[in-house]
Amino acid sequence: MTEHLAGRPGSLWVASSAPTGYAALREGIDVDVAVIGGGIAGLTAALALKRAGQTVAVLEAARVGAGVTGNTTGKVTSLHRLAYTELAAHHGYAAARLYGQANEAAIEHVAGTVADEGIDCGFRRVSNYTYAESDPALALVREEAALAGRLGLPASFTTEVPLPFDVRGAVRFDNQAQIHALRYVQGLARAVDGDGSFVFEESPATGFRDGSPAVVDTGRGSVRAKEIIVATNMPFGDNGIFAGRCYPHRSYIVAARSGLPPQDATFVSVDEPMRSILTVNVEGVSYVLAGGEGHPASEQVDSAERYRRLDAFARDRLGAGEIAFRWSTQDAMPADGLPFVGRLSPDFRHVHVVTGLRKWGLTNGTAAALILRDTLCGTHNPGAALFDSTRAVREEDTMPAATEEAPAPPAGQAGSVPVRPDLVPGEGRVMDVGGVKTAVYLSPAGEVSAVSAVCTHLGCTVEFNPADVTWDCPCHGSRFSTDGTVIQGPATRNLDPGQAPA
Ligand SMILES: Cc1cc2nc3c(=O)[nH]c(=O)nc-3n(C[C@H](O)[C@H](O)[C@H](O)COP(=O)(O)OP(=O)(O)OC[C@H]3O[C@@H](n4cnc5c(N)ncnc54)[C@H](O)[C@@H]3O)c2cc1C
Ligand code: FES
Repeated sequence: MTEHLAGRPGSLWVASSAPTGYAALREGIDVDVAVIGGGIAGLTAALALKRAGQTVAVLEAARVGAGVTGNTTGKVTSLHRLAYTELAAHHGYAAARLYGQANEAAIEHVAGTVADEGIDCGFRRVSNYTYAESDPALALVREEAALAGRLGLPASFTTEVPLPFDVRGAVRFDNQAQIHALRYVQGLARAVDGDGSFVFEESPATGFRDGSPAVVDTGRGSVRAKEIIVATNMPFGDNGIFAGRCYPHRSYIVAARSGLPPQDATFVSVDEPMRSILTVNVEGVSYVLAGGEGHPASEQVDSAERYRRLDAFARDRLGAGEIAFRWSTQDAMPADGLPFVGRLSPDFRHVHVVTGLRKWGLTNGTAAALILRDTLCGTHNPGAALFDSTRAVREEDTMPAATEEAPAPPAGQAGSVPVRPDLVPGEGRVMDVGGVKTAVYLSPAGEVSAVSAVCTHLGCTVEFNPADVTWDCPCHGSRFSTDGTVIQGPATRNLDPGQAPA
């Protein structure tokens, strides 16, 4: 039941973008590089490779930017909360410096691409703040500011924080940015498509084979290529290669109307509950975005309550008006705090992967894409070793935020499920229909949809998420709409049709 939640479900970014209409792949084609996934990582890599003289084909399962990128907040920054203190502690100063340099370069790459391609995505230079309200948090931001400054990043400690409530101080990074990320990746797609390169939508990859050529299958046509990039956020077809090293983590955002013009500043809190704040003007309307309430996707939570807490924060502390939009999405969290970029595993010669962007993928994903461009073009990139996808995650490098491991799929999940046809409108439940576990949803208009409750990834049972009106898989984070369509992988196949209860 969701009628008590404020705001329209779905992201502000999707609601304010014209839909794209690239054709689906319907035949076999040959290119230099096949890219699976049309989010910021895949499209940035595709355009960078095209500019380097390669032909590329991007295969997007749904629509360009339909995944995490179209549901992000929009900060383009190298200040990732307290990343430098954490990375220096776990990986050393040189690694923290390299991480900062890669992310600063990513900001400039985004800025340059917006200018070169004339992408109308509201790119704005802002300062980004990690702010502290408590004494312990204040000590942490002081430490982060000092360390980031020593690493050569545009960092300072400040007590002048342009928030409408009192804070003790903050790390400030200057010359950062914010964008309408969906319009940005739509602009990338426009620049990729043409001159022997392609963007295909509604073309989910169903499998791939290493070799010369390497081949991506879609069921309707194949792409033969010298190299394949898997940029599907959570790796697709990895057969457990990243299990234990990377797991999906969900967060929620509300966008409320604001009477104030956008600030030249974005914010994230150190104190819990973590809050992320961004202001923006879209089509003449000012909004303030409040994000947070994150948790591993495997954790069952009351999503409606998460939205309510963000609503209260936006209204009470940010002075926001009516909540206009609310949405949630998941990103891949690397257990040791560093993205994974490079070969899918040492066994693969021509299949490369990007994952573990740790909820900072607008820059980490851009940096990852540039690493892959350089790797495929035979150019040295200092970030390649840092983000090496084949590294083992050492126990001692596991970050505190990454210790909540996704549970193993419950063995077979063979337990019985109730037979209860007494749904109320807006409710969904897994039921036993004729001995088959069925995900049954009754819409507010009274229409019943019934699909198999067995996740098409590895067979766990999906659960109803009433706040987002989705079927979510607790095992590895796949999400499906009530008609069974895949919203987010690693599943690539829709839920099978089911039979409605009598
Ligand atoms: C709530 C939230 C807020 C965030 N805010 C910020 C922020 O302010 N700044 C920041 O830097 N980062 C932020 N992030 C993180 C950032 O948005 C992500 O890291 C980034 O967008 C991920 O990009 P991607 O290309 O890896 O994935 P996606 O954008 O998900 O792209 C992957 C694409 O692959 C497609 N796909 C999947 N399977 C297949 C298949 N089999 N065949 C073909 N296509 C397939 C999907 O449809 C999808 O479009 C946020 C994350 C969350 C969860
Ligand atoms: S079983 Fe892996 S996401 Fe559902």
